Amino acid sequence: MWDQIFSSRMSRMTASEIRELLKLLDQPDIISFAGGIPDPKLFPIAAFQDAFAETLGPDTQNEALQYSASEGYPPLRDWIAAQMAKLGIPCTRDNILITSGSQQALDYLGKLFLSPNDTALVSWPTYLGALGAFNAYEPHYDRLMPHANRTPADYAARAADKGGKVKFAYASVDFANPTGETIDRAGRESLLDLADELNIAVIEDAAYQSLRYDGDAIPPVLALEIARKGSIENCRTIYCGSFSKTLSPGLRVGWVCAAKPVISRLVLMKQAADLHSATINQIAITKVAKACFDDHVSNLRNAYKKRRDYMLNALSKHMPDGVTWTQPEGGMFIWLTLPDHMDGATMLAKSLETQRVAFVPGRAFHADGSCGNTIRLNFSLPDKATIEEGIKRLGALLRS
Ligand SMILES: Cc1ncc(COP(=O)(O)O)c(C=O)c1O
Repeated sequence: MWDQIFSSRMSRMTASEIRELLKLLDQPDIISFAGGIPDPKLFPIAAFQDAFAETLGPDTQNEALQYSASEGYPPLRDWIAAQMAKLGIPCTRDNILITSGSQQALDYLGKLFLSPNDTALVSWPTYLGALGAFNAYEPHYDRLMPHANRTPADYAARAADKGGKVKFAYASVDFANPTGETIDRAGRESLLDLADELNIAVIEDAAYQSLRYDGDAIPPVLALEIARKGSIENCRTIYCGSFSKTLSPGLRVGWVCAAKPVISRLVLMKQAADLHSATINQIAITKVAKACFDDHVSNLRNAYKKRRDYMLNALSKHMPDGVTWTQPEGGMFIWLTLPDHMDGATMLAKSLETQRVAFVPGRAFHADGSCGNTIRLNFSLPDKATIEEGIKRLGALLRS
């Protein structure tokens, strides 16, 4: 009965086949590299305790528990605008919309740009949650390759063949989920050239941008575009930021930074969807950000850098020939490519059964379902001994 009355978009919103396997993660003897979450032991708990106590104190208690503006809490938008300026993105609070995590921004941007059969450009592989958000708007996907010489006309022709237009390029440019890779400056510049020629938006997902462990920071795509065009108001790049990987994912506070015409349309969506993000969380996160953002992020970088290095060392020690992996300069993930004949999902089932080690098979991150011989490993959660033991077991499995 239900299938006949659900909307057509639901046919694109399917549960992942690996979810069943990953349910096993709750079992205590499993070593998990499957998550993609911050280490809760590193949360700034004391700062949040103080911030929430203060937020519910006499100065802001009524405001904190009340409805508030769809655009977001003005002092938070001001703090974010100042942070953006430090990244080479001069802007004001009118260029900032607070969202319930950056995931909500991805959903709104899908809704804003995609009509059924339009094309979204994404990398192969890309963030699974972005595909999940965009799928509801029934797009096709084409492969974004900033360094390849596919012409704008080629992208446009393929989109027209599928009955729509290219509307945006989505890119997680720093330490991407799932590969950990970064698009270099030349790649960012050619992404902007492509977007200008196709007259499309660029969605810059900056979820991991603050978590750089080595190498020099590369200016955000939006900063490079402002350098070309003088002002954020002339730019087509839409920057999606988040506090999830720095302060706390549970509070669900992210933001969009973009030209005002984009922000005003997104505000309409927010009004229709959830009115505004939780006021109390926005006030508390403003206080924590003002109290300790830079120091806290610097502690996170030190801690996660060590875990990345433990995992890279363990991989060098234990992986058999024929397995290759990325060398991320930041973020939370390392991406493994197994020999062609191996399948990540099959390996996961075997690994859980015989080695009790979990990871995420790579196929689901590919919009075309290709590259089954890949897997994603997370290093932000496990400690040194767990990383060493888990990678040793995984190496033994791959060798066998
Ligand atoms: C690349 C990327 N973008 C966006 C998100 C969504 O994060 P949040 O909604 O918590 O800001 C994630 C979460 O893992 C992510 O990996």
